[in-house]
Amino acid sequence: MEGRALMATGSDSGAALSARQIAEFHIRGYLAVPDAIVDTAEIARLRAIYDEMFAVRAGREDGNQFDLAGIDDDNRPAGLSQILHPHRYFPELAGQALERADAIAKQLLGPAARTEIFHAILKPAGVGAPTPWHQDEAYWDPRSQYYSISIWMPLQVATLENGCMWFEDGSHEWDVLEHQSIGGDVRVHGLELVNPTVIRNAVACPIAAGGVTIHRNRTAHYAGPNRTNEPRRALIFSAALPDRPFVGKRQFPWNENKQTARAGRASEDLAGSPRAN
Ligand code: NI
Repeated sequence: MEGRALMATGSDSGAALSARQIAEFHIRGYLAVPDAIVDTAEIARLRAIYDEMFAVRAGREDGNQFDLAGIDDDNRPAGLSQILHPHRYFPELAGQALERADAIAKQLLGPAARTEIFHAILKPAGVGAPTPWHQDEAYWDPRSQYYSISIWMPLQVATLENGCMWFEDGSHEWDVLEHQSIGGDVRVHGLELVNPTVIRNAVACPIAAGGVTIHRNRTAHYAGPNRTNEPRRALIFSAALPDRPFVGKRQFPWNENKQTARAGRASEDLAGSPRAN
């Protein structure tokens, strides 16, 4: 991997980005690291935990496991199953991958960056729904100003066929555009850009198992459906600098309008809760 000589300041050099990769990330608002940043034992370890936590639907009662793309009916298989904060249920997820994601985060955001295992998204074999174009910040509380990144790690190869990530080059510089619940159905948690014709420079990022893509809080992104016979497993780390109050006024009415089954299960108010995508 290019740039291994330019190591992170920490002792774990496995995730070190080169100066060119760091510059590219800041210019484009995304970066693909196509080769694995963790060893194969770590990928196998995470896959076993991952399959177990989706098998038991960890977090279902708390509203942290739900179908991102459908109406989240208990009797229907999820097209795009998500578990938020999976480490609360499976703390053993922490390990080499988290350490290396944190090393990357500190290279990109500085030493104040805080990294966590944020969520897991499973696209089931054959039926995995596409993740429509959106900006993550559209899910969050509009009263805060964010500087954050998501580090997306597939636990098998991520290809055009099974739903690799796509990014709109330079879109991290955009405002948060108008969003709506997927398909305009307020029972669906997932969001999509109301006007996806703004996407003109989309770049697909197929990567190896244990590779990563990295994007900013406003970078527009998409993932295709899973047309293969294998589940597409992705684990997503989030790293952020402390939030600040947003200067000015803005509203994200698409979050206030939601009427999801998930919110009915949850004990906390999920609308506009920070980084609840
Ligand atoms: Ni997203």
